[in-house]
Amino acid sequence: METRVLQVLDACRDHKNIEIAAAVLRKGGLVALPTETVYGIGADGLNPSAVAKIFVVKGRPQDNPLILHIAEEKELARLVTGVPASAQELVRRFWPGPLTLILPKSGLVPGIVSTGLPTVAVRMPSHPVARELIRLTGCPLAAPSANLSGSPSTTTAEHCVRDLGGKVEIVLDGGPCAVGLESTVLSLAGGVPRLLRPGAVTLEALREVLGEVEVDPAVEGRMEDAQPVSSPGMKYRHYAPRAQVTLVHGDAARFAAFLSEREAPGVFALCFEEEAQSMPVPHLGYGSRDDSATQAKLLFAALRELDERGAQTVYAHAPDREGIGLAIYNRLLRAAGFREVRLTK
Ligand code: TXA
Ligand code: MG
Repeated sequence: METRVLQVLDACRDHKNIEIAAAVLRKGGLVALPTETVYGIGADGLNPSAVAKIFVVKGRPQDNPLILHIAEEKELARLVTGVPASAQELVRRFWPGPLTLILPKSGLVPGIVSTGLPTVAVRMPSHPVARELIRLTGCPLAAPSANLSGSPSTTTAEHCVRDLGGKVEIVLDGGPCAVGLESTVLSLAGGVPRLLRPGAVTLEALREVLGEVEVDPAVEGRMEDAQPVSSPGMKYRHYAPRAQVTLVHGDAARFAAFLSEREAPGVFALCFEEEAQSMPVPHLGYGSRDDSATQAKLLFAALRELDERGAQTVYAHAPDREGIGLAIYNRLLRAAGFREVRLTK
């Protein structure tokens, strides 16, 4: 299959290209599309054979369910058995935007979307192209991140083509994603609301609206320790470049000293911009120490660039864990296969 790349930098001016992509989706094809978080591989979410293709092209494990993307709030009610007051309030505050809600699913949701679970994940993206594509297709879109399973999510059309060229009919190029990390995933499927995956809608913001929110043990630790498995996607080594990554906690001086002891061919640092001057090894910056929004935006592209530059071993300076920092930490921890070092005196 030849993949066509179509520009959609402006949802109005490039409307024709969104129409072409919607026609492909209606026929059961796959389209990579920009969202405000990361690029997604979209398929008609109510068509089981279209959804099945997603698992094949990504090499995605069969027990890892998909998010359904909708264009309007009212579509949520059709996909779930009921919309509790907590969900209504979150929708009012955070939709459209990077928040995915998990609720008990209705009979409309194909089993392959939820991989047999009694729940479904739903989100309304804020990206105008994503929303217009859903509206024109006329059904919710099942859309996982547009990367090969296990590798870093894609935040540009170029990265989508690299992972999925020849495997999807169209890549819609909407430029780089604004957030850069996947949506926050919150389960409202029973008991206390539970954060399954941190994202740009922060834990602090969710607690402000809901009061109590539990954090799934998988967010900051290994999935094997967390039983039962509440978010299948979190148990896999993930977001990983080919290089071996280690997450390093400590101040700038200790980080630099640690690296100078490890200087060797293929050893790289992933550091904050202001540390670049003092790095004793080849390095890549991913935003300023206290600019977590930029760190989030640059992280996945940086992991890919380290591979391109031939990094074999990467020491990544760990971010602060407040706000969106928790999401950056969560992704880096998985990229590192849970390898962490804490530098003290
Ligand atoms: O920002 C995003 O959410 C992006 C863009 C494309 O919208 N999508 C995305 O999808 O990140 P994906 O498939 O890469 O990640 C979905 C996550 C996985 O960790 C999956 O296990 C979890 O959501 N998930 C989906 N349905 C679930 C369910 N019913 N119960 C628990 N976790 C679920
Ligand atoms: Mg993913």
